[in-house]
Amino acid sequence: MFQGAIIRKALSGEVTAVYDLICLLKDKTMPLGAFERIYIKNLADPMISYFVAEVDGRIIGFISLHIQHLLHHSAPIAEVQELVIDESFRNLKIGVQLLNAVEKVSRNFQCELIEVSSNNKRIHAHRFYEKNGFVNTHMKLMMPLGESI
Ligand SMILES: CC(C)(COP(=O)(O)OP(=O)(O)OC[C@H]1O[C@@H](n2cnc3c(N)ncnc32)[C@H](O)[C@@H]1OP(=O)(O)O)[C@@H](O)C(=O)NCCC(=O)NCCS
Repeated sequence: MFQGAIIRKALSGEVTAVYDLICLLKDKTMPLGAFERIYIKNLADPMISYFVAEVDGRIIGFISLHIQHLLHHSAPIAEVQELVIDESFRNLKIGVQLLNAVEKVSRNFQCELIEVSSNNKRIHAHRFYEKNGFVNTHMKLMMPLGESI
């Protein structure tokens, strides 16, 4: 029986495994060099947390959390920026394990809430978030400024 994944902080040497997962999330290939620069910079940022899920020595899941101080909130707020599980490991509660890890960080920072933006087409993900305590209260609008969005 599947016992769950190991959830731990991502390491700088794991950029390729995380890159593969983010390409899967976005369903496209991104420039690896630019990705690596952002990954290394963000890993060193105390307001950003990167966690991976590991099964049998393989990284099969990733979540990122950014903590911000915003004028219109009286306490820090946390935002899940990326969450993805390898297709063959979905629906095994590994997403919940990763969410639990960032919830703990958010509580340690005494955040007021955790938010997430999710593309309208991700209906499975919406069900996942709502089952795990997220409430759909806001509408997100985007103004595309280039072809890469
Ligand atoms: C959304 C996602 C992170 C959830 O992680 P997970 O490990 O598969 O989810 P868990 O096993 O922890 O929870 C299962 C629940 O997630 C939802 N779910 C999400 N994707 C699912 C899928 N492909 N198949 C079945 N259930 C899915 C369901 O609500 C399910 O519970 P239910 O079947 O009892 O309703 C993962 O499916 C994924 O990587 N999806 C593609 C990327 C994505 O959309 N990321 C979110 C970006 S905002």
